[in-house]
Amino acid sequence: MRKKIIAGNWKMNKTPKEALELVHNLKNKVDTDKADVVFCVPAIDIIPVVDALKGTNISVGAQNMHFKDNGAFTGEISADMLIEAGVKYVIIGHSERRQYFNETDETVNKKALHAIEKGLTPIICVGETLEQREKAITVDFVRIQVRSALKDVSAEQARHVVIAYEPIWAIGTGVTATSEQAQEVCAAIREVIGEIYNDDVADEVRIQYGGSVNGSNAAELFSMPDIDGGLVGGASLKDDFGGIVNY
Ligand code: PGA
Repeated sequence: MRKKIIAGNWKMNKTPKEALELVHNLKNKVDTDKADVVFCVPAIDIIPVVDALKGTNISVGAQNMHFKDNGAFTGEISADMLIEAGVKYVIIGHSERRQYFNETDETVNKKALHAIEKGLTPIICVGETLEQREKAITVDFVRIQVRSALKDVSAEQARHVVIAYEPIWAIGTGVTATSEQAQEVCAAIREVIGEIYNDDVADEVRIQYGGSVNGSNAAELFSMPDIDGGLVGGASLKDDFGGIVNY
């Protein structure tokens, strides 16, 4: 039985002071018994947020990292830095990073491998554009993204990976995929994981849905057989996040 995992993706929101206010507001509102809960916060908020969450079961995640250990990569952050700061999860290949920061299937794979080797859990994002959906190539496209992201990841390592299916047209738009649309693609992701590894691994990997998840649609989406929780953007900055986790 897969445990649900609900992650908030704060994106580029909340100064350290604002982050603390949000954490104090949310931390007693989320029930961490039945689901793993992660706050993926801006890098500068990591240390104060980790501190503020001590004594809770809420984990902290980063939104990106570099695939090298260290070196001349101005502006980047390494896995070791994140780990020492108390980070457990890292979002890899979010569509905004693919769109605005030249993230490719190749860098996503390098980052995923590096995160896993270091002991961080990657939340690997995949998802189609509206154009791809209209051309009916969603499943083919997402299958390729998953295969590329998991290249050279061993079966043992793959068990702990989290995949987030986020249709780009549903992100930040208020338009959610229907539970049937989301289930169809999440099932295809589980199927491709089964093809790469085996049914056992496919059964264990947690697959999230993301894209305009809120307190009113979470219950239906997360009740689908292949959807093991969500990656939540806008609604993770509000009290609504408590409602989503506790649905
Ligand atoms: P959204 O963002 O919930 O605001 O649509 C989701 C995401 O980008 O992870």
